[in-house]
Amino acid sequence: MVYIGRLSIRESFNLYKKHLQRGKASFYEAIGFDIVMGKREGVWIWSLDGRRFFDAHCNGGVYNLGHRNPLLIKTLIAALEELDIGNHHLISEHRAILAEKLARLFPGELNRVMYSVGGGEAVDFAIKLARGYTRKKKIIYARGGYHGTTGLAIVAGDDYYKKPFEPLAPGFIQVEHGVIDDFRKVVDEDTAAVLLETIPATLGMKTPPMEYYKEIREICDKYGCLLILDEIQTGLARTGKLWGFQHYDVVPDIVVIGKGLSGGLYPITATIYRDDLEEFIEKHPFTHISTFGGSELGTVVAERVVDIVSSKSFLEHVNIISGKIWSLLENLASDYDDIIEETRGKGLFIGIKTKSKGLGPLLSLSLIHNGILAVFANNDKSVVQFLPPLITREEHLEYLEDRINSALSMVRENRSMEKIILEMIP
Ligand SMILES: Cc1ncc(COP(=O)(O)O)c(C=O)c1O
Repeated sequence: MVYIGRLSIRESFNLYKKHLQRGKASFYEAIGFDIVMGKREGVWIWSLDGRRFFDAHCNGGVYNLGHRNPLLIKTLIAALEELDIGNHHLISEHRAILAEKLARLFPGELNRVMYSVGGGEAVDFAIKLARGYTRKKKIIYARGGYHGTTGLAIVAGDDYYKKPFEPLAPGFIQVEHGVIDDFRKVVDEDTAAVLLETIPATLGMKTPPMEYYKEIREICDKYGCLLILDEIQTGLARTGKLWGFQHYDVVPDIVVIGKGLSGGLYPITATIYRDDLEEFIEKHPFTHISTFGGSELGTVVAERVVDIVSSKSFLEHVNIISGKIWSLLENLASDYDDIIEETRGKGLFIGIKTKSKGLGPLLSLSLIHNGILAVFANNDKSVVQFLPPLITREEHLEYLEDRINSALSMVRENRSMEKIILEMIP
């Protein structure tokens, strides 16, 4: 191996503490979360010391198609023979082809695309577009939601992420996710948009009631406010449908996608918006710029990703395997009903809700100890986010069942640790 193993785990941690984020590395050390990613292939990653983990974290969906998916690698290598990042000043054949493909996969008038590099940047654009188009100020967002740490996306997050950086952009109002009356109380004629994760990941996959988005849609239409759905985690087949909002029979005005669009190989994100919103961008064509947004190498990989995840057989596979994983988890939940409160979410977008805030981190660490990478949700620490790669197959289920079972029994034996771990989280 040329690139893997140039440092040991210890050396990596030490350099991290010296030149990167000391707080993060020290915290990981303190709780024994000592993984440094080495080899990676399909559903597996290996730490530099050879320990193997089933990746049920997937970097929030980046590895939907597994690590180093052979088809995507082939695509990227072929693209590298001809392309580079491209020049964002110029019209690009490759950006156009991907945009057309994306437009075909979205319902209604969602046929315009703006590319970015990261999710936060793509959310920032969605907010800018909503304000620019509507000429209104208010942005309504949800408690416990997460949309990134860039200039506007950060304001639509919880205090933990934004308080130290005040003053922030004004006009943002927080409501409870899934509670329509809360939204009703604050929406008005000056509301530019409501920005929500379709199912909020950082809040532990708290799944809104079926009628929620229909009501939101009606209220938005009444006040001329736009519905922005952040599908950075829920999009691209993660929930068993191509887009998470399809579970709710609603069509948003703006959708943000990212993570898995990259195929885990080349960063690219996109904001997809309603055709008539282009009126604003048409008048201000050079106001939103991103040098690397929609890099041509990224668009070629993303094209392939989109082809794969939108195929009927792939979606069928996700639904079959998720059905099996749900029943496996529900059986374990009933065996460990002193630890697990419920499993929630949709498709392979799963939250394992434990009985207390300390049990989430304890279960995460126990899973890691048992060869499964899964982490607790930062805005509801009682939940472990469980995101197996969408390419998980039947042959992996026995491993998952066996290891989750061991992890839960480890939690049961070490329950007294829950308070200690919770106190250690910065
Ligand atoms: C739902 C959601 N929105 C936005 C973001 C921000 O994306 P990025 O880290 O690429 O800026 C994330 C990242 O975790 C996310 O999960």
